[in-house]
Amino acid sequence: MDHDIFGEFREYSVAEFFKKNRQMLGFSGKVRSLTTIVHEYATNSLDACDEARILPEIEVWVAEEGEERYRVKVRDNGPGIPEKLLASALATMLSGTKFNRYVQQRGQQGIGATGCTMYALITTGQPVKVVSKHKGTAIKCSLGIDFKQNRPIVSDLIKEDCSPDDHGLEVEGTFADVKYEKSGYGVGEYLKRTAIANPHATIIFNSPEGERFTYPRSIDAIPRKAREVQPHPLGIGPNDLLDLTKGKYESTKLSSFLQNEFTRVSLNKVKELQELVPEVDFNMKPSELTWEQAEKLVAAFKKVKWIAPETDSVVPISTSQIEKSLRNILNPEIVYVTERPPKIYRGGIPFVVEVGIAYGGDVNKDKEGKPASGGVVMRFANRAPLLFDAGGCAITQTVKDIDWKRYELRNFDDEPVALLVHVVSVHVPYTSAGKQSISAEDDLVDEIRNAVMEAGRQVQRHLSGKRKEKEKVSKKAAILRYVNQISGDLSELADEVKKKEKLRANLEKMVQERFE
Ligand SMILES: Nc1ncnc2c1ncn2[C@@H]1O[C@H](COP(=O)(O)OP(=O)(O)OP(=O)(O)O)[C@@H](O)[C@H]1O
Ligand SMILES: [Mg+2]
Repeated sequence: MDHDIFGEFREYSVAEFFKKNRQMLGFSGKVRSLTTIVHEYATNSLDACDEARILPEIEVWVAEEGEERYRVKVRDNGPGIPEKLLASALATMLSGTKFNRYVQQRGQQGIGATGCTMYALITTGQPVKVVSKHKGTAIKCSLGIDFKQNRPIVSDLIKEDCSPDDHGLEVEGTFADVKYEKSGYGVGEYLKRTAIANPHATIIFNSPEGERFTYPRSIDAIPRKAREVQPHPLGIGPNDLLDLTKGKYESTKLSSFLQNEFTRVSLNKVKELQELVPEVDFNMKPSELTWEQAEKLVAAFKKVKWIAPETDSVVPISTSQIEKSLRNILNPEIVYVTERPPKIYRGGIPFVVEVGIAYGGDVNKDKEGKPASGGVVMRFANRAPLLFDAGGCAITQTVKDIDWKRYELRNFDDEPVALLVHVVSVHVPYTSAGKQSISAEDDLVDEIRNAVMEAGRQVQRHLSGKRKEKEKVSKKAAILRYVNQISGDLSELADEVKKKEKLRANLEKMVQERFE
């Protein structure tokens, strides 16, 4: 027997982990991998601009460099990244400004951009090139990753002065095992939908075929800044609770930590909790909390009656802005957008669902005006389009379960209709780290269903109005066809042939009035 099986034992860094499990970051499938790269960079640009209160201008280039090998460049006019954070922001896993913050943002985990650097390294061996212009200094460098240490490797660093008015980040990488496709899953569609959900951004896409697509901003107002909030006791699990205890609360007791770090936790509520879990010492340091105790606390959270959290932490795109961008970009015959108040899921996490429906006109037509596809569902979370993993997504499932015949859309899949469903929340419950599908939380599903049905009813009103109008027109035409004949026959019968014209005019007038 060989008991010495531990000779190879060692710890793995998070970078090594994701290198092995790249599909968890969205790097599975060639088309998806390319879209993922653009998605990660573009969402970072939008987050950075929104946080710095800058109207975003984002330009994306995708150029073919060889067989399934592309160069991707993304440039924004955001604040850039200061020199001392640049390398770790883009070449260290789990590093960033958004982790564990309860604020509505696109990024959450601190792995997106580093994941792209990783993908460049493992598919082409090439580091990514970065230019960051921040507060009057331009830093140019190449960034690689030391996977074992999860540390950045910086090379070719040049530092120059630049005008403080010139700011932003430019990232350029060469990637293989990727493919550009002009489909619903491709970079083009991704950026078009990004433009729909971000009417305050100007987005330009230079395709590998040399085309240039420009989506100019349709409004000049930066979205209201989402208020950063504290978590609500009903919105977290034991893992989140332990994460929150890490590090910073050495000097406090568990009881004050709960009051300070959560919304709606008062001294009275802490007393209630104490009664529910007498075995937990509320005078202990929060950092000493064990998994078991955290589980018990979370279970106790669920038994207490809490005031719901405030909902001003969610910033929807807004009815008028969605309407504007759907009109601008899809050129439909009609648009309807819901306006619904925020709701809460899991008892503690606020969210809003916005639904826009665009019907007829140029919806789903190609450049020549021919129908290119049937009904399309555009899914969004915190203004980022979700193109993949549609099957497992709460939005797709809910839309599929709706009886579209009730809304005069005989078969959703064959109609010139585009449905936009946007879930906005401080914490979007994604089903995986790839952030492409939303898990079917009951409250969320109910709200999506209600919002989609509300939009459906508006389309129904329009379509049934249109159908009735059409029926009216053809009925009128049919009756008018008989008027001449009848007035001739009647005047003959009554021996009043001379009066035929008068009779005809009167009958026509009657019909006209009846169908007004
Ligand atoms: N274009 C940019 N402009 C300014 N700062 C940026 C930009 N891109 C990235 N950053 C900074 O780098 C950090 C890391 O980005 P990264 O995409 O890896 O993680 P994230 O966006 O925080 O979360 P996620 O993993 O969900 O994308 C960000 O938190 C942000 O501070
Ligand atoms: Mg990111």
